[in-house]
Amino acid sequence: MKKNNIILIGFMGIGKGTTARAYAEKYKCFIIDTDDLIESKENQKIKNIFDEKGEKYFRKLEQECADWIVSSVDNTFISCGGGFYNVKNLNKLGTVILLDASYDWIYNRLSTAENSKAKLKKRPLFSEPKKAKKLYKEREKAYKKIADVIIDVENRDMKSIIKEIHKHSYI
Ligand code: S3P
Repeated sequence: MKKNNIILIGFMGIGKGTTARAYAEKYKCFIIDTDDLIESKENQKIKNIFDEKGEKYFRKLEQECADWIVSSVDNTFISCGGGFYNVKNLNKLGTVILLDASYDWIYNRLSTAENSKAKLKKRPLFSEPKKAKKLYKEREKAYKKIADVIIDVENRDMKSIIKEIHKHSYI
């Protein structure tokens, strides 16, 4: 059975964390983030996990995190890393909401952000824009296929984005 969590997915840099925080502020709820959960479990930053143990190991941690959510978390807003959509039980975790936008809009958002250097640095798969674009193209269809709800966020204001998420949620 599907759980009553909101599972926020989408490509790196699309603004999942920002959206989750805006949602928490408006609707007075706590939020969790799969990257934060993994970092605390490993006591290590994502970038270092990739550098020292490799992507395959990180993906295994994402699956462990998904399994923990299925067994132990409900009624919670969960913001997910960009590759988390690929865990085998995603649809069991809750209502899957995809934030969607073009690659160029995402790249522009990240590279013009105030702390853009840090934002790019902490994302090992965004270190080369060409590779990131390729990854975006590879994932584009799969994201849409797995999502219960797709929200186009390109040039859209945050208030209306979180209002739309709220329509699909009891949180
Ligand atoms: C990844 C996205 C990152 C993080 C890791 C891998 C991906 O999260 O989980 O670097 O595969 O797209 P964000 O989407 O929060 O950047």
